Parts: sequence; C-alpha cells; structure tokens
Amino acid sequence: MSKTPIKKALLIVAALATTGSALAAGKLEIFSWWSGDEGPALDALVKLYKEKYPTVAVDNATVSGGSGTNARAVLKTRMLGGTPPDSFQVHAGQELIGTWVVAGRMEDLSGLFKSEGWSKAFPADVLKLISTKDGVWSVPVNVHRSNVMWYNPAKLKEWGVTVPKTWPEFITTCATLKKKGVAAPLVVGENWTQQHLWENVMIGTLGAQGWENLFSGKTKFTDPKVVGAFTTFGKVMDCANKDASGLSWQQASDRIISGQSAFNVMGDWAAGYYTTTKKLAPGKGFGWATAPGTSKTFVMLADSFGLPKGVKDRAEAINWLKLLGSKAGQDTFNPLKGSIAARTDSDLSKYNTYSRSAATDWKTSKIVGSLAHGAVAPESFMSAFGAVIDQFVTSKNSAGAAAAAQALAVRSGFGK
Ligand code: GAL
Repeated sequence: MSKTPIKKALLIVAALATTGSALAAGKLEIFSWWSGDEGPALDALVKLYKEKYPTVAVDNATVSGGSGTNARAVLKTRMLGGTPPDSFQVHAGQELIGTWVVAGRMEDLSGLFKSEGWSKAFPADVLKLISTKDGVWSVPVNVHRSNVMWYNPAKLKEWGVTVPKTWPEFITTCATLKKKGVAAPLVVGENWTQQHLWENVMIGTLGAQGWENLFSGKTKFTDPKVVGAFTTFGKVMDCANKDASGLSWQQASDRIISGQSAFNVMGDWAAGYYTTTKKLAPGKGFGWATAPGTSKTFVMLADSFGLPKGVKDRAEAINWLKLLGSKAGQDTFNPLKGSIAARTDSDLSKYNTYSRSAATDWKTSKIVGSLAHGAVAPESFMSAFGAVIDQFVTSKNSAGAAAAAQALAVRSGFGK
C-alpha cells in the first residue's frame, strides 16, 4: 500500500523522535538516589543533556538514602505497578540481572551497544557484569572502588599511627588509639555501611579468590575460614562508634575530618564528597589506602542506568543512555563523583590524584565484585543479608551468622 502524505509526515516525526533529533520536544524521567550531597555529578550530566536536547523537560526524580536502600523499594512499587521511570539507576550486575532482567522487565540494549561502539569502549570485566546470554542490560556510567580506607593525615600524625596493612594489624592499631583516648577508632554508619565493611574484612581475610568462591557456590559460608572472618569482623566492629545505625555515610565521613575517628572503610564516592562537597584536597585534607589485606585487589561496583520495557519516553531515555555511555558524559560525571569512567578512553587529566590512583589500580589489580553494591548477588540475598549483619553485630555469634548466610545463599540460588 502506498503512503499518503499525512502518513509520510507521521513517519518522519516518529523517525526523528527515535533517532533523538535535538529538535524533538518531550519529557524524560530519570530515577536515582543521588540527591543532596550526592547530587552534583548527576546534576552536571543532566545539564549536559539539557544542552543537547533543550526542548526536553527532565524530571530528575530522586529518593535519597545511601546505596539506594530507599530508592530500590520505591522502584519496586513503580515497576510492579506498571509505571516505571523512563530510566533508573541500578548497580551493574546481579542487582539488576537477578531481579528485573529475570522478570522480563528490561529492554535488551545490545543494539545500542553495537551502534555506539560500546562493546569496544568498555572493558571486558564491565561488559561481563552487565550481560547475560540473552542481552546487555544497562549502561554503566562509572566504576567505583569499594575497598578504600579513608583517614585524616594530620590526625594520624598527631596520634603517631600509620595505616594498618592487615585486619589483625588494624585491631592492634585500634587498641593503641583507644589507649590514646580515641573512643571509636573506626567509624561506621547505618546497616549497609556495615555490610560494606563486612565485605572488606572478608576479602581482606579470605583473599580475592576466596571471596569469588563464596558467590560461585564453591565455598560454603559455613566454611571454618569464613566463620573465622566473621569473628575478625566482630573484633573490627568493637573498634567502632556505638551510634552507627543512626549515621549516614556522609556523617560517618565527616568524623574522619573532625578527628573523632581515625578510619572509615567506604567506597570512593567518599572522595567525591570530600573534594566536591567539602572542597578538601586529596592527600592533604583526606588520605586513603586500600582496605587492610586488599592491596592487590580492586573491589568494584558500577552505577548504571537501564531501560524498562513500556516506558513513556523511550526515545528521550535512549538519548539519556547514549550520553551516559559517551566519553563526554563519563568525563563530566566522574571527576565530581569520585569514581572513574567505565570507558577505557577516559581523559585522566580531568581527574584528581585520588581518581588517577584508582585508574591505575583498576588496570593492574585483581578485580572482584562488591556484594553490598549489587555486583555479585541478587537483591534477594543482599536485602536479607542486612538482617544477618544486624543480628551478628549484637550477638557476635559467628557460627550462627555463617549458617544464616549459607541458608540465604542456597535460597538465592548460588549457594550449594
Ligand atoms: C553506592 C553508589 C554510589 C553512591 C553510594 C552512596 O551504592 O554506587 O554511587 O551513591 O552508593 O550512596
């Protein structure tokens, strides 16, 4: 059947919308947990989007709460209710794949990866994390490092201590600091930050391979080495502040600068907070080292955005994803965020000394995925594991916690 002029015009309009012409008017809702102190890097990216697509109204919807603990619950309601945001932040890896991909709720982005040349622009480790045999599921905007220990160089000098290299050494340094009147040598915050610390104690004790074996089902959580690492975690937690559950990660980071505590194990969004929000100079205002026992390992996680099926503003969302994956997008976002670009062609002259050191380690270290930030286990495990940590911190029952974790691993399908 031949096309009428009206049909032709409609087809042209539709084609313009899907190719993302700058002329296209429209809307875009992006959903994330990057609000307030966490906002500047995302704001810079949104600004870039608006420059490219000036007629698109961007709704930058955020649900605050570190590591997405609150945002994930809201997202769930929206996905199940049939009103998905046009694109949402999600940790690359099992957090997305084990939840919304297996439920058939996400669009396969293989075509976009091909047309944008991303299969070459992103390293194999990152591509593996976001792919299954059926497709590629989200666009990573960064690579964060989880295994970093932050400190205040001037305060360590004043106390006469150095950064501990192993967890047993940390426990000794903790005793020294307590004798010097530092009541809480380590600062931790709410539950997810304790899970973050736990993963670093585990990796620092079991080694990178030992950690991977837990999530491939090769090693059981009830293995004596894992039980022993729980006991070490208990001793590490004895060095921490007693008001942890009421503290955000930013408030915990503040205590390093004020000198109330000596050490904080946190991902490198803390570098973004120190430099972008607090205007501190890396190496002077704050210092960093790999978490004890993990000097040859890079514990990674990546923030990514996906495209749910059936969104209202698909063309605008695709343009958002294109920007996220582009060199310009990544090199705008990451210098403010504390992370490094997921792309291999990033311009490191735009980054500070902390990020450059992370970029070097990213290339030379053994890479493993973070549990606390969605890379290695499905959300069903992650969210239930929070209760295991809560109970352990009160009871200090290593065998009990290990058995509970093992039961969860079996239920989540990776434990044998
Ligand atoms: C992580 C996320 C980071 C940062 C952090 C604190 O899970 O990957 O980008 O937002 O939580 O909220």
